[in-house]
Amino acid sequence: MSKRDLLSASDLGREELENILELTEQMRGKRNTKVLDGRTIGLLFFNRSLRTRVSFEVATVQLGGHCINIFADKEIYDMEPEDQVVMDGKAEEHVKDAAHTLSRYVDALGIRQLRRTESWEMDRHELLLHSYAEHANIPIINLESTLEHPCQAVADMVTMKRNLLNLKGRKFTLAWSDNPKPKNMGPCHSVLTLAATLGMDVTIAHPLGFELDEEIMTTVNARSEDSGGSLRVVNDLAEGARGTDVLYSRSWGAVKYWNDPEREAMVKRSLKSWLIDKETMDLTNNALFMHPLPLRRNVAASDEVVDSPRSVIYDQAENRVHAQKAILAHLMG
Ligand code: CP
Repeated sequence: MSKRDLLSASDLGREELENILELTEQMRGKRNTKVLDGRTIGLLFFNRSLRTRVSFEVATVQLGGHCINIFADKEIYDMEPEDQVVMDGKAEEHVKDAAHTLSRYVDALGIRQLRRTESWEMDRHELLLHSYAEHANIPIINLESTLEHPCQAVADMVTMKRNLLNLKGRKFTLAWSDNPKPKNMGPCHSVLTLAATLGMDVTIAHPLGFELDEEIMTTVNARSEDSGGSLRVVNDLAEGARGTDVLYSRSWGAVKYWNDPEREAMVKRSLKSWLIDKETMDLTNNALFMHPLPLRRNVAASDEVVDSPRSVIYDQAENRVHAQKAILAHLMG
């Protein structure tokens, strides 16, 4: 049987996603299973993490497996992901060789790499992640990349389902927020894809110029049409918030300023009002407040909102453990 990877939220069709959500609830209370007995998960981090790293370790332990963290910047060689290149530059090892080697040590490999070079076109291809997926013969799991954060999005779906039960026809708003530095779009693309897959009425609220990736938006739109949901984009926070059942806050950087963060910072000086406060929440249908974390308090959302009873941010974080137990069992069971 061929191995299964999870690189993108769109790797999960509706039925498979629903199976994983159901499995998550079965896994929730189980802290001592043998699903991964004797097996090892490798976690390769090129960037910082609190939730993803810890929740994957905990999930693996609760499945009876063992976890190894590999911190790419300190512990491994610079890697070349392109095929057929003369490796006389900075990279000392080819991903092909690292992937084959790691496949002999571990039973699945999670990778986090958020790239920001001069070129959005280059970064959006996620060469390193896809090169590992091509060359490894074990499951590769995306732990957040330039474009996607599928594990976060599955945990988000779990969190919404536990609060709203049936998600079809419920209103979901992704609202852009400010951040001093440009953030990647991964959690946004992945949660939109899965919300559309489950037939939610999706609104994206962002300032002009902060459009999401065109190709991913085409996928979200197609999924929305298939599921009987809807998709709209507005350029006003209040309009996006009005009547929604879920207000999901996250900052992301603009593609057009990808290689010019100083210019983006200047543009964002006039966007400070994109902060979710009680006034914004009062426009909603008593919405859940969601954010994948880390969150800058009183920049993305006010303390009052973040600490309110409708805020489910810590449930989202907890659900990472349960959802990832289900994902690991699904890919490796
Ligand atoms: N939400 C999330 O992925 O958090 P970390 O960056 O802390 O892993």
